[in-house]
Amino acid sequence: MASTLTLNRTGDKMPFVGFGCWKVANEDAENTIYTAIKNGYRLIDGAADYGNEVEVGRGINKAINEGIVKREELFVTTKLWNTYHKKEHVREAFNKQLKDLNLEYVDLYLVHFPVPLKHVAIETAYPPGWFQPGEEKVTLDRAPMHECWAEVEKLVEDGLARNIGVSNFNVQLLMDLLTYAKIKPAALQVELHPYLQQSTFVKWVQEQGIQITAYSSFGPASFVSLGVDHAITAAPLLEHDVISNIAKAHNKSNAQVLLRWSVEKGIAVIPKSSSEARMVSNHDVLSWSLTEADMAQIAKLDLNMRFNDPVTYGFNLPIFN
Ligand SMILES: NC(=O)c1ccc[n+]([C@@H]2O[C@H](COP(=O)([O-])OP(=O)(O)OC[C@H]3O[C@@H](n4cnc5c(N)ncnc54)[C@H](OP(=O)(O)O)[C@@H]3O)[C@@H](O)[C@H]2O)c1
Repeated sequence: MASTLTLNRTGDKMPFVGFGCWKVANEDAENTIYTAIKNGYRLIDGAADYGNEVEVGRGINKAINEGIVKREELFVTTKLWNTYHKKEHVREAFNKQLKDLNLEYVDLYLVHFPVPLKHVAIETAYPPGWFQPGEEKVTLDRAPMHECWAEVEKLVEDGLARNIGVSNFNVQLLMDLLTYAKIKPAALQVELHPYLQQSTFVKWVQEQGIQITAYSSFGPASFVSLGVDHAITAAPLLEHDVISNIAKAHNKSNAQVLLRWSVEKGIAVIPKSSSEARMVSNHDVLSWSLTEADMAQIAKLDLNMRFNDPVTYGFNLPIFN
Protein backbone atom coordinates (compact mmCIF):
# COMPACT_ATOMS: atom_id res chain seq x y z
CA MET A 1 0.00 0.00 0.00
CA ALA A 2 1.01 3.63 -0.38
CA SER A 3 3.15 4.89 2.47
CA THR A 4 1.71 8.40 2.26
CA LEU A 5 -1.58 10.31 2.24
CA THR A 6 -2.05 13.07 -0.33
CA LEU A 7 -2.92 16.51 1.01
CA ASN A 8 -5.45 18.77 -0.67
CA ARG A 9 -4.28 21.90 -2.57
CA THR A 10 -0.51 21.12 -2.61
CA GLY A 11 -0.73 17.39 -3.34
CA ASP A 12 2.07 16.98 -0.78
CA LYS A 13 2.56 13.44 0.48
CA MET A 14 2.10 13.05 4.23
CA PRO A 15 3.63 9.82 5.56
CA PHE A 16 1.15 7.40 7.15
CA VAL A 17 3.55 6.82 10.04
CA GLY A 18 5.28 9.65 11.85
CA PHE A 19 7.18 10.11 15.08
CA GLY A 20 5.49 12.03 17.93
CA CYS A 21 7.60 14.40 20.04
CA TRP A 22 5.32 14.87 23.06
CA LYS A 23 7.00 13.88 26.33
CA VAL A 24 10.37 13.33 24.67
CA ALA A 25 12.72 14.72 27.34
CA ASN A 26 14.88 17.66 26.27
CA GLU A 27 18.09 15.80 27.03
CA ASP A 28 17.00 12.89 24.80
CA ALA A 29 15.20 14.70 22.01
CA GLU A 30 18.11 15.36 19.62
CA ASN A 31 19.25 11.75 19.67
CA THR A 32 15.71 10.31 19.70
CA ILE A 33 14.63 12.28 16.62
CA TYR A 34 17.91 11.54 14.84
CA THR A 35 17.46 7.83 15.64
CA ALA A 36 13.86 7.90 14.41
CA ILE A 37 14.94 9.40 11.09
CA LYS A 38 17.81 6.90 10.80
CA ASN A 39 15.23 4.14 11.25
CA GLY A 40 13.05 5.38 8.42
CA TYR A 41 10.66 7.89 9.99
CA ARG A 42 10.05 10.76 7.59
CA LEU A 43 7.34 12.63 9.52
CA ILE A 44 8.19 14.40 12.77
CA ASP A 45 5.24 15.69 14.80
CA GLY A 46 6.14 18.47 17.21
CA ALA A 47 4.57 21.45 18.95
CA ALA A 48 5.64 24.61 20.74
CA ASP A 49 3.89 23.23 23.82
CA TYR A 50 6.18 20.18 23.98
CA GLY A 51 9.03 22.48 24.99
CA ASN A 52 11.63 20.56 22.98
CA GLU A 53 11.69 22.19 19.55
CA VAL A 54 15.33 23.32 19.82
CA GLU A 55 16.44 19.74 20.46
CA VAL A 56 14.01 18.27 17.90
CA GLY A 57 15.45 20.71 15.36
CA ARG A 58 18.98 19.60 16.24
CA GLY A 59 18.03 15.97 15.61
CA ILE A 60 16.44 16.83 12.26
CA ASN A 61 19.41 18.94 11.16
CA LYS A 62 21.92 16.32 12.28
CA ALA A 63 20.20 13.75 10.05
CA ILE A 64 20.14 16.23 7.14
CA ASN A 65 23.77 17.28 7.63
CA GLU A 66 24.91 13.65 7.73
CA GLY A 67 23.14 13.01 4.44
CA ILE A 68 20.71 10.45 5.91
CA VAL A 69 17.83 12.42 4.47
CA LYS A 70 17.24 15.59 2.45
CA ARG A 71 15.03 18.33 3.90
CA GLU A 72 12.51 17.82 1.10
CA GLU A 73 12.18 14.14 2.02
CA LEU A 74 11.09 15.04 5.54
CA PHE A 75 7.62 16.12 6.60
CA VAL A 76 7.84 18.37 9.65
CA THR A 77 4.63 19.19 11.50
CA THR A 78 4.33 21.62 14.37
CA LYS A 79 1.55 23.48 16.18
CA LEU A 80 0.50 26.97 17.23
CA TRP A 81 -0.06 27.16 20.98
CA ASN A 82 -3.28 28.56 22.49
CA THR A 83 -1.75 31.77 23.88
CA TYR A 84 -0.85 33.01 20.38
CA HIS A 85 -4.26 32.98 18.66
CA LYS A 86 -4.60 36.77 18.44
CA LYS A 87 -3.84 38.01 14.95
CA GLU A 88 -0.88 40.08 16.18
CA HIS A 89 0.75 37.06 17.88
CA VAL A 90 0.52 34.25 15.32
CA ARG A 91 3.53 35.32 13.27
CA GLU A 92 5.85 35.97 16.21
CA ALA A 93 4.97 32.56 17.69
CA PHE A 94 5.58 30.84 14.34
CA ASN A 95 8.88 32.69 13.81
CA LYS A 96 10.10 31.60 17.25
CA GLN A 97 9.25 27.97 16.40
CA LEU A 98 10.95 28.07 13.00
CA LYS A 99 14.07 29.59 14.59
CA ASP A 100 14.04 26.98 17.37
CA LEU A 101 13.69 24.19 14.82
CA ASN A 102 16.40 25.85 12.70
CA LEU A 103 14.40 25.23 9.54
CA GLU A 104 13.29 27.43 6.64
CA TYR A 105 9.74 26.12 6.45
CA VAL A 106 7.45 23.52 8.00
CA ASP A 107 5.39 21.04 6.01
CA LEU A 108 2.30 21.32 8.18
CA TYR A 109 1.33 23.93 10.77
CA LEU A 110 -1.65 23.09 12.98
CA VAL A 111 -3.74 25.19 15.35
CA HIS A 112 -3.17 22.98 18.41
CA PHE A 113 -6.49 23.54 20.24
CA PRO A 114 -9.55 25.72 19.52
CA VAL A 115 -8.95 27.48 22.84
CA PRO A 116 -7.91 31.15 22.68
CA LEU A 117 -5.93 31.73 25.87
CA LYS A 118 -4.80 35.14 27.06
CA HIS A 119 -1.42 36.01 25.55
CA VAL A 120 1.81 35.40 27.44
CA ALA A 121 4.86 37.16 26.03
CA ILE A 122 7.55 34.79 24.73
CA GLU A 123 10.16 36.45 26.93
CA THR A 124 7.94 36.01 30.03
CA ALA A 125 7.41 32.24 29.78
CA TYR A 126 8.01 29.77 26.95
CA PRO A 127 6.21 27.54 26.34
CA PRO A 128 3.65 29.05 28.69
CA GLY A 129 1.28 26.09 29.09
CA TRP A 130 -2.36 26.64 30.01
CA PHE A 131 -2.06 29.39 32.66
CA GLN A 132 -0.93 32.95 33.01
CA PRO A 133 2.41 33.00 34.88
CA GLY A 134 1.83 32.60 38.61
CA GLU A 135 -1.82 31.58 38.16
CA GLU A 136 -3.52 28.21 38.24
CA LYS A 137 -6.62 28.94 36.23
CA VAL A 138 -7.34 29.25 32.55
CA THR A 139 -7.96 32.80 31.21
CA LEU A 140 -9.57 33.08 27.78
CA ASP A 141 -9.00 35.90 25.30
CA ARG A 142 -11.19 37.41 22.57
CA ALA A 143 -9.28 35.93 19.64
CA PRO A 144 -11.75 34.78 16.97
CA MET A 145 -10.67 31.70 15.03
CA HIS A 146 -11.37 33.41 11.69
CA GLU A 147 -8.72 36.04 12.49
CA CYS A 148 -6.27 33.44 13.76
CA TRP A 149 -6.80 31.30 10.65
CA ALA A 150 -6.30 34.28 8.31
CA GLU A 151 -2.87 34.80 9.91
CA VAL A 152 -2.07 31.10 9.58
CA GLU A 153 -3.04 31.34 5.89
CA LYS A 154 -0.47 34.13 5.47
CA LEU A 155 2.25 31.66 6.48
CA VAL A 156 1.33 29.66 3.39
CA GLU A 157 1.27 32.77 1.22
CA ASP A 158 4.77 33.64 2.50
CA GLY A 159 6.13 30.14 1.83
CA LEU A 160 6.77 29.38 5.51
CA ALA A 161 4.19 26.61 5.98
CA ARG A 162 3.50 24.36 2.99
CA ASN A 163 0.21 23.10 4.47
CA ILE A 164 -2.00 24.19 7.35
CA GLY A 165 -4.53 22.42 9.50
CA VAL A 166 -6.13 22.08 12.91
CA SER A 167 -6.12 19.79 15.91
CA ASN A 168 -8.75 18.94 18.53
CA PHE A 169 -11.51 20.63 16.49
CA ASN A 170 -15.01 19.17 16.43
CA VAL A 171 -17.39 19.10 13.46
CA GLN A 172 -19.17 22.37 14.29
CA LEU A 173 -15.91 24.29 14.40
CA LEU A 174 -14.61 22.71 11.21
CA MET A 175 -17.90 23.39 9.45
CA ASP A 176 -17.65 27.04 10.46
CA LEU A 177 -13.97 27.24 9.46
CA LEU A 178 -14.81 25.87 6.02
CA THR A 179 -17.27 28.76 5.48
CA TYR A 180 -14.55 31.41 5.66
CA ALA A 181 -11.23 29.67 4.99
CA LYS A 182 -9.44 30.89 1.87
CA ILE A 183 -7.16 27.91 2.37
CA LYS A 184 -9.00 24.80 3.48
CA PRO A 185 -7.31 22.81 6.29
CA ALA A 186 -5.21 20.00 4.80
CA ALA A 187 -5.25 17.89 7.93
CA LEU A 188 -6.91 17.37 11.28
CA GLN A 189 -5.10 15.78 14.22
CA VAL A 190 -7.26 14.20 16.92
CA GLU A 191 -7.19 11.55 19.62
CA LEU A 192 -8.29 8.31 17.99
CA HIS A 193 -8.01 4.67 19.05
CA PRO A 194 -10.34 1.65 19.44
CA TYR A 195 -11.76 3.12 22.69
CA LEU A 196 -12.55 6.40 20.84
CA GLN A 197 -13.42 5.49 17.25
CA GLN A 198 -15.64 8.47 16.24
CA SER A 199 -16.72 6.74 13.02
CA THR A 200 -19.24 9.32 11.78
CA PHE A 201 -16.84 12.15 12.61
CA VAL A 202 -14.01 10.44 10.70
CA LYS A 203 -16.28 9.83 7.71
CA TRP A 204 -17.42 13.46 7.57
CA VAL A 205 -13.90 14.89 7.90
CA GLN A 206 -12.52 12.59 5.20
CA GLU A 207 -15.43 13.55 2.91
CA GLN A 208 -14.30 17.19 3.18
CA GLY A 209 -10.92 16.23 1.68
CA ILE A 210 -9.18 16.71 5.02
CA GLN A 211 -6.66 14.03 6.01
CA ILE A 212 -6.75 12.75 9.58
CA THR A 213 -3.87 11.96 11.90
CA ALA A 214 -4.63 9.89 15.00
CA TYR A 215 -2.80 10.67 18.20
CA SER A 216 -2.55 8.50 21.32
CA SER A 217 -3.15 5.36 19.27
CA PHE A 218 -2.51 3.21 22.35
CA GLY A 219 -5.42 4.81 24.23
CA PRO A 220 -4.89 5.05 27.98
CA ALA A 221 -1.16 4.14 27.84
CA SER A 222 -0.05 7.74 27.39
CA PHE A 223 -2.20 9.13 30.19
CA VAL A 224 -1.50 6.79 33.10
CA SER A 225 1.70 8.66 34.03
CA LEU A 226 -0.26 11.94 33.94
CA GLY A 227 -2.57 10.58 36.67
CA VAL A 228 -5.71 10.64 34.49
CA ASP A 229 -8.18 8.59 36.58
CA HIS A 230 -10.06 6.79 33.80
CA ALA A 231 -6.77 6.01 32.02
CA ILE A 232 -5.61 4.24 35.18
CA THR A 233 -8.85 2.29 35.65
CA ALA A 234 -9.52 1.45 31.97
CA ALA A 235 -8.39 -1.96 30.75
CA PRO A 236 -5.05 -1.30 29.00
CA LEU A 237 -5.70 -1.31 25.27
CA LEU A 238 -2.16 -2.51 24.64
CA GLU A 239 -2.97 -5.69 26.60
CA HIS A 240 -6.57 -6.18 25.50
CA ASP A 241 -7.42 -9.82 24.69
CA VAL A 242 -9.03 -8.95 21.35
CA ILE A 243 -5.91 -7.04 20.28
CA SER A 244 -3.58 -9.76 21.63
CA ASN A 245 -5.38 -12.51 19.70
CA ILE A 246 -5.29 -10.55 16.46
CA ALA A 247 -1.61 -9.73 17.03
CA LYS A 248 -0.79 -13.40 17.56
CA ALA A 249 -2.60 -14.40 14.38
CA HIS A 250 -0.49 -11.94 12.35
CA ASN A 251 2.73 -12.50 14.30
CA LYS A 252 2.81 -8.79 15.15
CA SER A 253 2.86 -6.80 18.38
CA ASN A 254 -0.28 -5.42 20.00
CA ALA A 255 1.04 -1.91 19.35
CA GLN A 256 1.41 -2.69 15.64
CA VAL A 257 -2.21 -3.90 15.50
CA LEU A 258 -3.44 -0.67 17.11
CA LEU A 259 -1.46 1.44 14.64
CA ARG A 260 -2.49 -0.66 11.66
CA TRP A 261 -6.15 -0.30 12.71
CA SER A 262 -5.90 3.45 11.94
CA VAL A 263 -3.96 2.91 8.75
CA GLU A 264 -6.72 0.55 7.50
CA LYS A 265 -9.09 3.52 7.85
CA GLY A 266 -6.82 5.82 5.83
CA ILE A 267 -5.70 7.62 8.99
CA ALA A 268 -2.07 8.54 9.73
CA VAL A 269 -0.42 7.69 13.07
CA ILE A 270 2.35 9.37 15.07
CA PRO A 271 3.54 7.01 17.84
CA LYS A 272 6.32 8.08 20.19
CA SER A 273 8.76 5.71 21.79
CA SER A 274 11.92 6.12 23.81
CA SER A 275 13.04 2.64 22.76
CA GLU A 276 14.69 2.10 19.37
CA ALA A 277 13.25 -1.41 19.10
CA ARG A 278 9.67 -0.17 19.68
CA MET A 279 10.31 2.76 17.35
CA VAL A 280 11.31 0.33 14.59
CA SER A 281 8.37 -2.02 15.09
CA ASN A 282 5.87 0.86 15.33
CA HIS A 283 7.07 2.00 11.90
CA ASP A 284 6.43 -1.42 10.37
CA VAL A 285 2.68 -1.21 9.80
CA LEU A 286 2.45 -0.75 6.04
CA SER A 287 3.68 -4.09 4.68
CA TRP A 288 0.84 -6.22 6.12
CA SER A 289 -2.85 -5.78 6.80
CA LEU A 290 -5.73 -6.64 9.11
CA THR A 291 -8.66 -8.67 7.85
CA GLU A 292 -12.26 -7.49 7.70
CA ALA A 293 -12.99 -9.87 10.59
CA ASP A 294 -10.19 -8.28 12.65
CA MET A 295 -11.60 -4.81 11.95
CA ALA A 296 -15.12 -5.96 12.90
CA GLN A 297 -13.87 -7.30 16.23
CA ILE A 298 -11.97 -4.08 17.02
CA ALA A 299 -15.05 -2.02 16.07
CA LYS A 300 -16.81 -3.58 19.05
CA LEU A 301 -14.25 -2.16 21.50
CA ASP A 302 -15.52 1.43 21.12
CA LEU A 303 -16.27 3.06 24.48
CA ASN A 304 -16.37 6.69 23.33
CA MET A 305 -13.65 7.17 25.94
CA ARG A 306 -11.45 10.25 25.53
CA PHE A 307 -8.32 10.82 27.58
CA ASN A 308 -6.82 14.07 26.23
CA ASP A 309 -9.63 16.44 27.20
CA PRO A 310 -8.96 19.76 28.98
CA VAL A 311 -11.71 18.70 31.42
CA THR A 312 -9.54 15.71 32.36
CA TYR A 313 -6.83 18.15 33.42
CA GLY A 314 -9.25 19.94 35.72
CA PHE A 315 -10.13 22.90 33.45
CA ASN A 316 -13.79 23.65 32.87
CA LEU A 317 -13.29 23.66 29.09
CA PRO A 318 -15.57 20.97 27.66
CA ILE A 319 -14.45 21.62 24.07
CA PHE A 320 -15.55 18.24 22.77
CA ASN A 321 -19.16 18.55 24.01
N1 LIG B 1 -2.59 17.38 18.94
C1 LIG B 1 -2.62 17.04 20.22
O1 LIG B 1 -3.32 17.67 21.05
C2 LIG B 1 -1.82 15.86 20.68
C3 LIG B 1 -2.09 15.28 21.93
C4 LIG B 1 -1.36 14.15 22.30
C5 LIG B 1 -0.38 13.64 21.46
N2 LIG B 1 -0.13 14.26 20.26
C6 LIG B 1 0.93 13.76 19.35
O2 LIG B 1 0.76 12.37 19.19
C7 LIG B 1 1.95 11.69 19.55
C8 LIG B 1 1.61 10.33 20.10
O3 LIG B 1 0.69 10.42 21.16
P1 LIG B 1 1.01 9.96 22.63
O4 LIG B 1 2.40 10.36 22.98
O5 LIG B 1 -0.11 10.37 23.48
O6 LIG B 1 0.86 8.42 22.56
P2 LIG B 1 1.58 7.22 21.89
O7 LIG B 1 2.78 7.58 21.13
O8 LIG B 1 0.46 6.59 21.19
O9 LIG B 1 2.00 6.40 23.16
C9 LIG B 1 3.14 6.68 23.85
C10 LIG B 1 3.32 5.68 24.96
O10 LIG B 1 3.27 4.34 24.45
C11 LIG B 1 4.49 3.68 24.72
N3 LIG B 1 4.83 2.87 23.55
C12 LIG B 1 5.26 3.29 22.34
N4 LIG B 1 5.43 2.25 21.50
C13 LIG B 1 5.10 1.15 22.19
C14 LIG B 1 5.06 -0.24 21.87
N5 LIG B 1 5.40 -0.66 20.66
N6 LIG B 1 4.67 -1.10 22.83
C15 LIG B 1 4.33 -0.67 24.06
N7 LIG B 1 4.34 0.62 24.42
C16 LIG B 1 4.71 1.53 23.49
C17 LIG B 1 5.50 4.77 25.00
O11 LIG B 1 6.45 4.37 25.92
P3 LIG B 1 8.01 4.28 25.52
O12 LIG B 1 8.44 5.65 25.13
O13 LIG B 1 8.65 3.79 26.77
O14 LIG B 1 8.11 3.30 24.39
C18 LIG B 1 4.62 5.87 25.60
O15 LIG B 1 4.45 5.67 26.97
C19 LIG B 1 2.62 12.65 20.54
O16 LIG B 1 3.99 12.39 20.69
C20 LIG B 1 2.34 13.97 19.89
O17 LIG B 1 3.24 14.21 18.83
C21 LIG B 1 -0.85 15.34 19.86
